[in-house]
Amino acid sequence: MATESRISIHGQWSNRLAFILAATGSAVGLGNIWKFPYITGMNGGGAFVLVYLLCILCIGIPILMAESMLGRRGRQSPINTMAALAAEEGGAKVWAWLGWMGVLAGFLILSYYSVIAGWALAYVFRAASGLFTGLDAESINNIFGSFVSDPERTLAWHSIFMVMTMVVVARGVQHGLEKSVRYMMPALFIVLIVLVLYAATTGYFSYGLRFMFATDFSRLSWNAVLMAMGHAFFTLSLGMGAIMMYGSYLPAHTSIAKTSLIIAGADTVVALMAGLAIFPIVFANGLEPASGAGLIFKTLPIAFGQMDAGILIGTLFFILLVFAAWTSSMSLIEPAVAWLVENHGMSRISASVWLGVLSWLLGIASILSFNHWEQYKFWGKTFFDLLDYLTANVMLPLGGLLIAIFAGWVVGVKSSYDEMDNGKRGYALWLFLVRYVTPVAVILIFLNVSGLLDWL
Ligand code: PHE
Repeated sequence: MATESRISIHGQWSNRLAFILAATGSAVGLGNIWKFPYITGMNGGGAFVLVYLLCILCIGIPILMAESMLGRRGRQSPINTMAALAAEEGGAKVWAWLGWMGVLAGFLILSYYSVIAGWALAYVFRAASGLFTGLDAESINNIFGSFVSDPERTLAWHSIFMVMTMVVVARGVQHGLEKSVRYMMPALFIVLIVLVLYAATTGYFSYGLRFMFATDFSRLSWNAVLMAMGHAFFTLSLGMGAIMMYGSYLPAHTSIAKTSLIIAGADTVVALMAGLAIFPIVFANGLEPASGAGLIFKTLPIAFGQMDAGILIGTLFFILLVFAAWTSSMSLIEPAVAWLVENHGMSRISASVWLGVLSWLLGIASILSFNHWEQYKFWGKTFFDLLDYLTANVMLPLGGLLIAIFAGWVVGVKSSYDEMDNGKRGYALWLFLVRYVTPVAVILIFLNVSGLLDWL
């Protein structure tokens, strides 16, 4: 039997669908629509996409299940859940540090996530004003260039987005989340279909398809493999406790395997559709797939400027993108907020304000790395790139690795079997993946990237 007696002090989802919606809201965000296309472009397409899909399947889904399971069993913020479960299962106290690393990762990610979400917010108004109508790729590119090189403007949008995040988190993420995600996701889906259809009219659809799915492993470095894996964690919100947190609000007796497959499926479809919309536009306009973090802002507005009802569709697209980012950003600080409430008796309001303000301050460094600080490089990366790299490609996979080890080896088989409620065969497969496949894959990729394997 799953743990029915325990309920989180922060509340519980009204039903299974509420959890699916919230977790999908967390998973689908800038990672799918902004980041996936741009890192796919930077890493040469096909082979990268294939590795990413494999990582979702063999690493992401098992860890998604592990995190939901641990969360539901612990019923607290990830830090306290890890501490409680470690005590219950006879594991070492240091497992609580896993929760801490997750809290830190979420905080760091939020700082730049809000900056990019601010760009999307700004583009709602640019799209609505008809600014893009009839413009060519070069003018669209210039609009983006002058926007990000203006720190005051981007700071204003970053601030607005951070306040939006703080407000919802302060009220408690369960309120309203369910309803907004229920309408937003299908709407986002429809707009993406419209964009893919537009991309099909450019005459370059097959170029886009080939770029995304024709695999050429000779162009794939170990670093690209690491990025594909890191992105699997990032896009599913794994490795930092967001899903563990949401899992703690999960009612007993919901099949964790089924919900996880739905969440991962929806997330992957959105990312692939974003790619299918963007790359044909890239090739039709002679743009560079590897043009970096601005890729969607340099491509999609071309479509909005040319298609019928482009103003309407463009505005809608950016509104939905902001929504998707919003339902993700709240999950980035929810674990930290819940911990402050549990351990320091803080109110949700002050906890969210404190964390939001600190994260906002750090975000300013990311803003500046697109303009005044662009020339300051750390290991060849700007501050923004470095922060993104460290969080997505180091902290999340490391967190995920430890979660897999904890769920597979420290938590007893009886406890995890009861909590999963999945039937014997599904459970055996999960246990095998989480015990062997996931840890070995993550460790191998880490070793290869760090060059340690050659050295050994
Ligand atoms: N999954 C979110 C996205 O794809 C980002 C995220 C990462 C949210 C980690 C929570 C935790 O945009």
